[in-house]
Amino acid sequence: MRANSRIPTSAQTGIHERLGELVDRHLREPFRKPILDYNRAAFDAAMAAWNGQPLILDAACGTGASCVLLAQQHPACFAIGVDQSEARLSTQKGELPPNLHLARADLVDFWRLLAERGVKLERHCLFYPNPWPKIGHLARRWHGHAVFPVLARLGGRIECRSNWRIYVEEFAFALGRVIGRDIGWETMGPEALDAPVSPFERKYRDSGQPLYRCVVDLRSAA
Ligand SMILES: C[S@@+](CC[C@H](N)C(=O)[O-])C[C@H]1O[C@@H](n2cnc3c(N)ncnc32)[C@H](O)[C@@H]1O
Repeated sequence: MRANSRIPTSAQTGIHERLGELVDRHLREPFRKPILDYNRAAFDAAMAAWNGQPLILDAACGTGASCVLLAQQHPACFAIGVDQSEARLSTQKGELPPNLHLARADLVDFWRLLAERGVKLERHCLFYPNPWPKIGHLARRWHGHAVFPVLARLGGRIECRSNWRIYVEEFAFALGRVIGRDIGWETMGPEALDAPVSPFERKYRDSGQPLYRCVVDLRSAA
């Protein structure tokens, strides 16, 4: 990837004015869209592969490079990387670490299946989700999506990273609204960028962009 990517531009200058009411609606009205068979099959395969070790979920893992790293760095954990793009996942050639499973699935269903099964995560990574920076696209951002309250039920140390500051601010605001406490966010320091965790992080870093994250430990709350 070339290092000339741009920071998302948006008419939004801060947290979307309708985010609070949208999250409240999603908390009031459970999301009932039927789960598709192919997502259930991918979920069953992932659960069959899981060896019972503490679970790391790399949500929208793209090529899976970040989950290979996570699995190698945490041999006492099991990592599942989920992405909807077969093309991206299939760039992961060669043998995967034994404590890693890659699943091609839509997270909107995969997250709900995890919650339905009562699975509690150790760590939950959302690295560089598609930002959907247009004002009218709020509901496409994870925190504006009807599935969002389910993420809190999965527990774990949840971490969202983005090159769009407003995305991370909104994520912190929305997650705080779901769990009922204020949540902060931060600009990532240079030490975090020494070894980029994913292809998108590398691209943004090499383009000299500031990067942001929200990290919350939900392990005791879950
Ligand atoms: C900007 S890329 C980031 C990929 C990777 N996390 C990284 O940092 O390099 C966003 C990824 O989200 C995936 N994605 C978007 N919506 C998804 C969904 N509903 N379910 C699963 N994956 C999704 C896309 O296929 C894409 O690979």
